[in-house]
Amino acid sequence: MIGNFTYCNPTKLYFGKGALAGLDEELPKYGKNVLLVYGGGSIKRNGVYEKVLARLKANGKTVFEDGGVMPNPTIDKVKEGVARAKAANADLILAVGGGSVCDYAKAVSVSVHCDEDIWEKYFIRFDDVSCEVVPVGCVLTMVGTGSEMNGGSVITNPAQKLKIGHVFGENVFPKFSVLDPEFTFTLPKYQMVSGIYDIMSHILEQYFSGTDDNTSDYIAEGLLRSLIHSADIAVENPLDYEARSNIMWTATWALNTLIAKGKTTDWMVHMLGQAVGAHTNATHGMTLSAVSMPYYRHILPYGVEKFARYAQNVWGVPAGDPETTARAGLARMEAWMRKLGLAMDLTELGATREMLDGMVQSTLIMDGGYKILEKAEIRAIFEESFGEARA
Ligand code: NZQ
Ligand code: ZN
Repeated sequence: MIGNFTYCNPTKLYFGKGALAGLDEELPKYGKNVLLVYGGGSIKRNGVYEKVLARLKANGKTVFEDGGVMPNPTIDKVKEGVARAKAANADLILAVGGGSVCDYAKAVSVSVHCDEDIWEKYFIRFDDVSCEVVPVGCVLTMVGTGSEMNGGSVITNPAQKLKIGHVFGENVFPKFSVLDPEFTFTLPKYQMVSGIYDIMSHILEQYFSGTDDNTSDYIAEGLLRSLIHSADIAVENPLDYEARSNIMWTATWALNTLIAKGKTTDWMVHMLGQAVGAHTNATHGMTLSAVSMPYYRHILPYGVEKFARYAQNVWGVPAGDPETTARAGLARMEAWMRKLGLAMDLTELGATREMLDGMVQSTLIMDGGYKILEKAEIRAIFEESFGEARA
């Protein structure tokens, strides 16, 4: 392991059946006013809302609501949330939902006491927080993003056709998160498999970088094997608690900063996927799956040894000529993705060829992976991600 690093993860987790009882330990630590943030209504249909509200009331909280957080939350909605948080004089923001709700809560938390233009400050200039941060807690209902234990906040600006993530520091991580796998049982299969692929992508974005011998890569391989094993069970039986709980736990470790330690990390699949998201508003994990195979086939020659190691250690491909082994690994991965029912081309997500120029423009270029892409390569990858281009 070559890179230097500092490691601290301040989020306290309550995991498992009945984990919501953890709120009784956490809520007394904060003032009376709680801004309860949630999405489009799934928590009202599956009973999670009543359970959370009962805990809040039992702990003597005054609850202010901010519902209607959409998947891929927008900057305009964040501004609305800031106004609500101010009006409520919120002491705690409690996010109940998936990554969108958690990300949104973090964006509001760093903006309530900020006098600047929050889009420009956090999502264009990537400035650090220079004001008080309202504490955030999460009750997770959708698995994939890792937002429950990281500083990530991904916000969309539809007018500018940009979807951008700011990875904030420890001061913005949720103070606590409640992870009850049963709260995810009502997820539609499309969302479940999308989340599963989001997890895989997070691990791969960190794994496919560097050539040194790094403990993080061994952890990543273990997480990937567990994910693939449990995903195969969960797609057959979404109510298999063991599989769903393993997936939930893997999601957290896939993006809570641990496996990035000592690594440069790639993140180009996410940059490509976020550009697709900015133009289509498609489901996050599906935007990643649709661009992954063309991207990985493109960079494989620049990191062939690592792709061969991935093929052997994760997909069980026998050792052989590195390039052949590496390509066999990607072929197994692609077959698995198709079996899961993931989107494998951009047309499935409502993208059209007319959006190509815009998507290329919206793609941020990162420099931590095996190849720094040129705009022309980004275009070629998007073109290949259109199903008809491959046919
Ligand atoms: O809005 P409701 O009605 O709650 O429905 C949601 C939403 O439509 C539904 N859902 C959630 N839990 C459910 C449920 N439906 C039934 N039963 C349940 N238990 O699922 C839909 C998707 O929810 P969302 O929160 O949007 O999904 P996800 O967790 O995948 O979050 C996606 C957002 O997170 C960002 C993405 O870019 C995207 O904006 N990301 C955040 C990251 C981070 N913080 O580090 C990293 C990721 O790479 C990702 O970029
Ligand atoms: Zn992701």
